[in-house]
Amino acid sequence: MKICVLGVGYVGLTTAALFSDLGNVVHCIDINEERIANLKKGIMPIYEPGLKEIVERNIAENRLLFSTDTASAVKETEIIFICVGTPPQASGETDLSQVQSAAISIAKALNGYKIVVNKSTVPVGTGDFVRRTIEENRLENHNFDVVSNPEFLREGSAVQDSFEPDRIVIGAPNKQVALKLLELYATLERPMHITDLYSAEIIKYASNAFLATKISFINAISHLCEEVGADVTVVAKGMGADSRIGRAFLNAGIGYGGSCFPKDVESLIHTSGTYGYDFKMLKEVISVNKGMVPHMIGRIEELIGDVKGKTIGVLGLAFKPNTDDIREAKAIDMIQILMERGATVKAFDPQAMEHTKAIVPDVTYTQNAYEVAENADALVLATEWREFKLLDMERIRNSMNQPVLLDGRNFYNPEEKTRMGFTYYGLGRGIFRPNS
Ligand code: UDX
Repeated sequence: MKICVLGVGYVGLTTAALFSDLGNVVHCIDINEERIANLKKGIMPIYEPGLKEIVERNIAENRLLFSTDTASAVKETEIIFICVGTPPQASGETDLSQVQSAAISIAKALNGYKIVVNKSTVPVGTGDFVRRTIEENRLENHNFDVVSNPEFLREGSAVQDSFEPDRIVIGAPNKQVALKLLELYATLERPMHITDLYSAEIIKYASNAFLATKISFINAISHLCEEVGADVTVVAKGMGADSRIGRAFLNAGIGYGGSCFPKDVESLIHTSGTYGYDFKMLKEVISVNKGMVPHMIGRIEELIGDVKGKTIGVLGLAFKPNTDDIREAKAIDMIQILMERGATVKAFDPQAMEHTKAIVPDVTYTQNAYEVAENADALVLATEWREFKLLDMERIRNSMNQPVLLDGRNFYNPEEKTRMGFTYYGLGRGIFRPNS
């Protein structure tokens, strides 16, 4: 099949890579000329394990074509995926201006029947908005259908999530259109959910909001665990063994970040509000999430006193491991508060330091994790990169001003660290002293 993908960001590029690898010819369009020029040379706009190889392979096979010419690509293809950005506005409402522009471009180039597929994360009702926009702007009176096919990929495992999704959701206006999309995905042999348009749109937001709720729930439980002397990791394991609950997304920590959960939860609250439902439960999910970094700062102060004039080392900056993405990264919120309170901050991340420098330039960025620890009064793990597990912790302990380790992701073993002479704190596990 011939496919057009509008918007070559995370979702667009991964979608294009998937469909081209399945044997389709995919026209990738972006208004960013530099991005397109780079992609033609195989230079990727994002860091995602395995994606570059697939892109290069399909460029070489002439199945992946990059251009800024939307009209030609729309004219040549029948299925058009909208994968543009849908950033949040200050009110929490989703900014649909890029979706609108994409729909107008499609309308102007309409030269026959098209299936317009919304893959961007958009509020319920956006399918209708796209339909109206195309109807109002088309120059020739051709038919088209609008489908919702939300994307569930995670950063860091985008390729695997695209090739082996748990489910494929297709919200289509009729059977024929649904079948066309089914055909596109058939070789993946994954469960397909054919729904109406509105349900598909809600599935995406409801899924992300539910996962964020799971995280805030375990983070709320972590406070209780600390008070009574329980261990939240043990509690999560026990809860997760119930197949109705599941172990995934029950890791307590300094909170969820990234480009999806924070904005999607806000957007769902906003959309619900416009339909007259005050989604108070999700407001509390946000509130618990926002409280995690201040809670961690409180524990730092409890262990080393006023942070003014002290040196704090931070391990990890990205919002999660295996990405260079720092959007809504909790490490950065934490660094900003520590610096406001007069601390000197040193930090290291395997991928995300360049991006972070632009936001918090006054941090001392080091070459490796060991330099972060040197002369530090406390070392805080903010992102659980696997390489941080393999560090020589004796060397770290010996180089620190005081061996205080705060674990924002419950990544280390408390007994092991206290045996080594660290004072250890884990979120929802409490404080462990070396000789206790
Ligand atoms: C998420 C969804 O998982 C994905 O389906 C959707 O398409 C986009 O949003 P992503 O933002 O890439 O993906 O990352 P994810 O792995 O879900 O983690 C999000 C945040 O939650 C990270 O900051 C992570 O550290 C945090 N998290 C995750 C926890 O704090 N605890 C957990 O148990 C799981």
